[in-house]
Amino acid sequence: MTRGEDPGAYALIRLLPRVLRPACWAVWAAVSNLDDLIDDRDATDAERAARAESWITALEADLVSGTSTDPVRLALVDAATRWHLDLSGLRDGMVVSLGDVHRRHFDDWAQWRAWSRGHVAPVYDLFRDLFDRAGAPVLLRLDRQAGYEQFIHGARLTDTLTDLAADLAENRVLLPREILEQFPGAEDDLGHGRWSTATAALVAELTGLARRWVTQPGLTHGMHPGPAVTVTTLTGLLLAQLDAVEAAGPALLRSQARPSPVARARVLVPARIRSSLAWSLTPVTMPATPRRPTATGPRTAGGPPPGATEFRQPPRHPSGCRPPRIGVEAMPAHVAIVMDGNGRWAEHRGLPRSEGHRAGADALHEMVYGALEIGLSHLTVYGFSTENWRRDTEEVEGIMGLLRHELDDDPFRSLDVHLRWSGRSEKLPADLVESLRRKETTTRTRTGLTCTLCFNYGGRDEITRAAAALARAAQAGDLDPGAIGEEDFARHLTLTDLPDVDLLWRTGGEQRTSNFLPWHATYAELHFTPDYWPDVDRRDLWKAITEYGHRQRRHGAARTAQRR
Ligand code: IPE
Ligand code: IPE
Ligand code: MG
Repeated sequence: MTRGEDPGAYALIRLLPRVLRPACWAVWAAVSNLDDLIDDRDATDAERAARAESWITALEADLVSGTSTDPVRLALVDAATRWHLDLSGLRDGMVVSLGDVHRRHFDDWAQWRAWSRGHVAPVYDLFRDLFDRAGAPVLLRLDRQAGYEQFIHGARLTDTLTDLAADLAENRVLLPREILEQFPGAEDDLGHGRWSTATAALVAELTGLARRWVTQPGLTHGMHPGPAVTVTTLTGLLLAQLDAVEAAGPALLRSQARPSPVARARVLVPARIRSSLAWSLTPVTMPATPRRPTATGPRTAGGPPPGATEFRQPPRHPSGCRPPRIGVEAMPAHVAIVMDGNGRWAEHRGLPRSEGHRAGADALHEMVYGALEIGLSHLTVYGFSTENWRRDTEEVEGIMGLLRHELDDDPFRSLDVHLRWSGRSEKLPADLVESLRRKETTTRTRTGLTCTLCFNYGGRDEITRAAAALARAAQAGDLDPGAIGEEDFARHLTLTDLPDVDLLWRTGGEQRTSNFLPWHATYAELHFTPDYWPDVDRRDLWKAITEYGHRQRRHGAARTAQRR
């Protein structure tokens, strides 16, 4: 929708590093969505106000619960959680914009500016906050504050001029009386859609004002080059927009003025080059641990609001060691681990193998803490393979008992971990299957780490079942066998949304994958370490991730076209 309705904003967001874009789309979508509710021409004033208000109220509730049934609000809650954004300013701005349901009148520029400051500035402030959190600070010198505000008013005025026709169709003029009165007859002419000398002079005056306001050459001094290029590009786009407004003449009263693709390209082509250079200077980093967002400003001493879920922070490693800071580009999205060596660990100590598995469970807790601390999104661990049934009944029963104990004891309770299970239910005790499924459901709204336990899992089994499901779909006529692609296949795997494995780590000294995630790990970076699983801790995970960051991943491309 943005590409069609606001190509400038679309292009601007696409200049940003990939990792920042989802949050930008979320903020953009939320603001546009609310504008659409407020401007809905098919509804009465009262209906529009009620719908917009209930959207804002629902957002507040969603921020408390950490999830939403509405895709736009869910994206916003997710962005706020990942980037630690405080949405209270945006919420207040949305409340201000509720007043737009009724006709706005501004006596003078002071009133107009207060309105612009109230509902446009919070959106800019939120983007600034996002850049700050990403390690690309939008430092504004104190003496630039006024210029920054003027810039925002300039952007608002440009929008008003651009949307003049739409506003006139709604019988509203979002301009202060002060300026209208300087051009006698202009207000009446606008009201009747007449392009007169007065309206032409008014538009020329306003275009000139907007031009001066958006031209703030010192604004980007001291800013990180990334946001600086963004501001400069936005200025260029606004000026191109104002050129289009000026060129439109009488057409401005009938339709939206838009710069030609050529005029836009004149701004965007050099901006693309400058921006990729600017952002390459500093790695953009996402905060390590996602945090529950707020829309109510800083917490008061009374603790979290009623009904809020507060997640426990993982306990620190006894050494006090903290995770390394990994640039987003060097961070794997998905680490999968073959937790091997429990049996040998126990045997070396003269202990029963079951003791090795118990010690292995502690190592897994450690790894989940480490994954949360470093900000990993997916951790998948191999707990029991379809081949492990070949072991003694005693050992197998011991492993089942251990899993039962772990699920009851719930070591990840109150941590921001969504626990999932991949594997076959056949042969597993029914109560375990039930507990695994229940755990998956009760933790499904947690957005920090997705930890997938592969238990009674076999890679060939997963692929065979997917093939069977595809065959059934083809037989039923739902699928053309000649058109089956990789994505169709992936959709029939056990967990349809499990991402590709970036890093596959096996402890215990063996260098094989033992039927683990063959579909997802075809391009995984492999990491084998000699220590038995019960002997490793989160620092080994961090080391593996750090080493991964130095690998060159080519995915089949030649070295020069290498992409991470
Ligand atoms: C991995 O450790 C855990 C499971 C297979 C359940 P092992 O039990 O395979 O340990 P080793 O390889 O025999 O030492
Ligand atoms: C793979 O380890 C399975 C798990 C870690 C759960 P194994 O120890 O069973 O693998 P092999 O037998 O050495 O290949
Ligand atoms: Mg083994």
